[in-house]
Amino acid sequence: MSTPRTVAHTGHEDLVAVEFTVNGTPVSLRVPARMTLSDALRDNLGLTGTHIGCEHGVCGMCTILIDGDASRACLLFACQLDGAQITTVEGLGKPDDLHPLQESFGRHHGLQCGFCTPGFLMSSYDLLDHEPDIRREDLPEELSGVICRCTGYRNIIDAVDDVATNHRDGLPGPKNCGQRTLTGRSPVGSTAAADESTAVSEAVQDSAPEKISLPSGEPTIAIDVTTVLESPPQDVARVFEDIQLLARCLPGAELTEELGGNWYRGRARVALGPIKLSFNGFAHLLEHESDRMHVLGQAKDTGGGRAQAEIHLLAVPEGTGTRLQAEARVYLVGRIAGFGRSLAGDVSRRMFEDFAKAVDQAARGEEPEVGSKPPSAFGILVGAMRDRIRSVRELRRKAPGSQAKNTHEEG
Ligand code: FES
Ligand code: FES
Repeated sequence: MSTPRTVAHTGHEDLVAVEFTVNGTPVSLRVPARMTLSDALRDNLGLTGTHIGCEHGVCGMCTILIDGDASRACLLFACQLDGAQITTVEGLGKPDDLHPLQESFGRHHGLQCGFCTPGFLMSSYDLLDHEPDIRREDLPEELSGVICRCTGYRNIIDAVDDVATNHRDGLPGPKNCGQRTLTGRSPVGSTAAADESTAVSEAVQDSAPEKISLPSGEPTIAIDVTTVLESPPQDVARVFEDIQLLARCLPGAELTEELGGNWYRGRARVALGPIKLSFNGFAHLLEHESDRMHVLGQAKDTGGGRAQAEIHLLAVPEGTGTRLQAEARVYLVGRIAGFGRSLAGDVSRRMFEDFAKAVDQAARGEEPEVGSKPPSAFGILVGAMRDRIRSVRELRRKAPGSQAKNTHEEG
């Protein structure tokens, strides 16, 4: 591959402009200096065919072509790729006009779960392109840089050998390259979404933005949760009216500055297993009453991730207590987005439950316990897992025939 560009010294949170071509489409991005190419391809350009496994250059899932040579996208920073020609698995073939390698993998059953398939396709493309005379007995070693968890190696070797045998005079090039619109999950920085991307990337800066614009499209997490508090509505109203107190009820969150005009600066910390995220950002209260709140927020974390959210909170009387309802749309980019929707959703819901408990405490005149401590993410995860196991057991109990099975097992 060509020598990656050396980037002038820059702070790890600064956005760096970079231009390259992906599958024939010129792209201009402004990305955090430490954002990997694999994250930029997936999150900013929507090219999720490049899979991420180990993020340490071991498993080969993220293999792509840079200037015609196979490279690990997880080992490169996006900002190093200025001027590069990148080919991802999306560029290899079209659904109705597959590349011979894709067609051969299907015919030889070289894909099972498909997780390693993009890596194997791009790796074997590179191999056959550079070594058209490769012998079958050399294929296992040559392709050993990609790991198949389903252990489908025999069929994968058959598939690659078939293409090699039939294309000794040259492998056909990628069949799906050309100008097209590329839009990521958060449209930060693609040329195709230049106006919106500029708005979003400028917005996640150090100074308060004029406006928070949420990305269009489906959020990473959508939450609609309700819980009933013991405290009566008039006590909960006192918490809603005191924005500092309300902020202290949010697990791991801290309001650091009131900026006027219903704008606030704050930070939030979340630790998910070994991953520690520290978000700094802004919140804008679009509506703030004693029984309702509409908030837009955005923040960036020190590892280059970004979060944007729209939250509606509503408190209505329920018996002698108060029903607290939260609806949220959350857009995530970066490491946290890699957790997957359902787990991130579980964690968010658990955090809302902790928030609701803290509001109840504050309404009783006690200091909320969550304070500015980072949420015990391990506890949250364990709780989320416990909920999952519980709901799976519940489903099993309700499944037809489960009674007989349980009886049998117990007997
Ligand atoms: S994700 Fe890049 S090598 Fe494993
Ligand atoms: S087909 Fe499942 S990991 Fe290879």
